[in-house]
Amino acid sequence: MDKSIDEIYQEAHDALVGVSDLEALEAINVRYLGRKGRLTAFLRNIASLPPEQRAEAGKKANIAKKKLEAAIKDHGERLKAGVEKREEGIDVSLPGRPLTPGALHPITRITREICDIFERMGFSIAEGPEVELDYYNFEALNVPKYHPARDMQDTFYVSDNIVLRTQTSPMQIRVMEKQSPPVAVIAPGKVYRCDSDLTHTPMFHQVEGLLVDDQVSFADLKGTLTAFVHAMFDAQTSLRFRPSFFPFTEPSAEVDILCVMCRGKGCRVCSHSGWLEILGSGMVHPNVFRSVGYDTTQYSGFAFGMGVERIAMLKYGIDDIRKFFNNDLRFLRQF
Ligand code: FA5
Ligand code: MG
Repeated sequence: MDKSIDEIYQEAHDALVGVSDLEALEAINVRYLGRKGRLTAFLRNIASLPPEQRAEAGKKANIAKKKLEAAIKDHGERLKAGVEKREEGIDVSLPGRPLTPGALHPITRITREICDIFERMGFSIAEGPEVELDYYNFEALNVPKYHPARDMQDTFYVSDNIVLRTQTSPMQIRVMEKQSPPVAVIAPGKVYRCDSDLTHTPMFHQVEGLLVDDQVSFADLKGTLTAFVHAMFDAQTSLRFRPSFFPFTEPSAEVDILCVMCRGKGCRVCSHSGWLEILGSGMVHPNVFRSVGYDTTQYSGFAFGMGVERIAMLKYGIDDIRKFFNNDLRFLRQF
């Protein structure tokens, strides 16, 4: 006998591993356990061994034979089960589908980042409806019906007195109606305007800020927004406060930051001005306080509203706002 029973068994066992169809399995069965099979031959040869070795060798060979028979039977059953699954339309031999983990949309990430910065300064978060009463979007904000300031924003009207909110500023009123000073809130959300080009989309996001207390000054507004810009971008980022007009603030200012695309040289993103407007702001107009019943002799406050897409464009160096909403995965997967 040239090979030991252990070697024969091991060989047969190894051969089983790669077997993926019933025909190949039968071939192995024949090669080892068939009439002329190797294990069968081994058993037959036992008779020619010296008598004192026969019992021991016979016992080992029979155990090996039983184990191999069981292994072949088991393998066969598993193959048959697989075939049945395939006939049901389930191919168990197919490789698994890779999981593609989702990721946050860049606008969601930037919104959260903005909120985090203000929360660290002590502001809390408020949210409100996108389909809004004309009263909150305009009237209570010192923009009566037929006031020319309504033309500053192209409004989608749902009905005579219902609009898609054109700004997050109605949240100022909603918050102040429910709460007396001191107030320190920010309100993130979607807003809508009939507007579309490189830097404007019909739906975009704003984050509103409102702080009301005794003796709030324009210096507080400047300090808060400067701290925000430095936390959002970096401490070297230049910003400027440019006099402006909003019906609900007096005085008003818009904040521009140096165009990060061209570093102020002028490019198509900043309309060759070197600066990009990121927000509107100002000291809350007394008429706004009157509409919520706040005492205008005791309290003052500042408010601001920033465009989230603008900030995301500057932060990530994106030159067309529409890319955020095209849902091109090649674009979205970069964040
Ligand atoms: C306002 O909406 C005021 N409510 C902001 C405000 C709040 C002023 C509180 C004073 C006190 P404005 O229309 O300028 O202002 O818009 C604010 C910001 O939103 C802009 O600076 C810009 O960053 C962004 N924005 C405006 N229109 C669009 C648009 N169509 N697409 C994308 N971003 C826009
Ligand atoms: Mg503006």
